[in-house]
Amino acid sequence: MSNTLVLGCMWGDEAKAKIVDYLAEKADFVVRFQGGSNAGHTIVTEGKKYVFHTIPSGIMFPQTLCLIGAGVLIDPAAVLEEIKALEKQGINLKDRLLIDFRAGLVLPLHKELDAEQEGRLGDARIGTTKRGIGPAYSDYTARTGLRLHDLQFEGYTAERLQALYRHHHKKITKEQLQEEVVSLSKAFRSLKKYVGDVELSLYEAHRDGSNILFEGAQGALLDNIYGNYPFVTSSRVMTDAVGTGTGFSARYLDKVIGVYKAYCTRVGEGPFVTEIKDELAETIRKTGNEYGATTGRPRRIGWFDTVAASYSARLNKLDCLAITCLDVLSGLPELKLCVAHKQKGRRQENYDFHSFEANEVSPVYETFSGWEEDISGCRSLAKLPLAARRYLVALEDYLETKVEIVSVGKDRKQTFTINRKRSMK
Ligand code: IMP
Ligand code: MG
Repeated sequence: MSNTLVLGCMWGDEAKAKIVDYLAEKADFVVRFQGGSNAGHTIVTEGKKYVFHTIPSGIMFPQTLCLIGAGVLIDPAAVLEEIKALEKQGINLKDRLLIDFRAGLVLPLHKELDAEQEGRLGDARIGTTKRGIGPAYSDYTARTGLRLHDLQFEGYTAERLQALYRHHHKKITKEQLQEEVVSLSKAFRSLKKYVGDVELSLYEAHRDGSNILFEGAQGALLDNIYGNYPFVTSSRVMTDAVGTGTGFSARYLDKVIGVYKAYCTRVGEGPFVTEIKDELAETIRKTGNEYGATTGRPRRIGWFDTVAASYSARLNKLDCLAITCLDVLSGLPELKLCVAHKQKGRRQENYDFHSFEANEVSPVYETFSGWEEDISGCRSLAKLPLAARRYLVALEDYLETKVEIVSVGKDRKQTFTINRKRSMK
């Protein structure tokens, strides 16, 4: 029995879903606790690709139950579409999916507001996924939002919806309001069999000795408070969010696995100290297929930033690291590791600069030799070239946390766990 969290520790897209999928075989429950359909989680197995947005990645294993906690936003139409697409691919969700009745709703109005806000911000835009996430979380916090179980009462839904439009100074005719209520009620009737009490289910699962795996979305540096505000998402993306996002206290966690890509990527705007601006970025983007799974946007590429990474390791009290996409670096003559930042001539080792001053912050690099070998077939540390092992040891040293899982390709099979009895060096 164990309670494990797999948490993305940079700006999202660390290939968390792959690590969740790798561990999910032994899990009884896989649980999402924050974010919504802004997430794009990709799994590749036996040549087939699956993309998840709101449904937990554990759904691939027939014996695994998938829970969506109250901290996750539900866009009813998007979730139904995702369920349908998965069923078409032969994945059965019957009796395997439970969404907390307290989950907040993303409504069409929220998507409209998201796009409008981005437009108004102009050059200062966040670069959101335009899935309505910010406005929906704001309404939840402001107590103007609607929650999943509200939809069982048509009259109540109509009243709340009308008040919401009024709150945002948006006009809606009686007919349009009625139409929206009808479509929400219809969606609820289809989703009803999946709606329940995730808090209670987790409590009972833990009491009965189940293995529970928590799946983070986005990344800790997109956390609403501890990320690069305002270039962040609107949910809390850290270890503690497991408790608020499910009702199952983070104190129950036995293990927190921090997922980092062997280099950095970011989609959307915001500070990126180690961003690579020359053609090398395109090479890495192509090799790593670094395009957003939700929006298709090309991801910005950079060297691994140990200043940012050790900050998120500290925030989340990691027990170990999972390093992904190591294979993408194969063939590069040399690798750079950012070991400190420099601002106004001063060396900085803490990640606390103001986003407004990000342009003044430059990376201090340590250079490592690369490796030529194709490592995608390696299934143990010993099989990796010495240069790759040295790079992993450097990550461990800077993050003061041991690497436990290494991923060397997109497929489920291209992952291995490090046997700690053997030395890294
Ligand atoms: P929002 O979450 O759509 O409001 O977007 C806020 C910021 O978080 C933007 O920079 C997005 O690109 C980024 N973001 C949101 N979700 C993800 C994700 O799943 N992966 C990577 N970046 C994300
Ligand atoms: Mg993603």
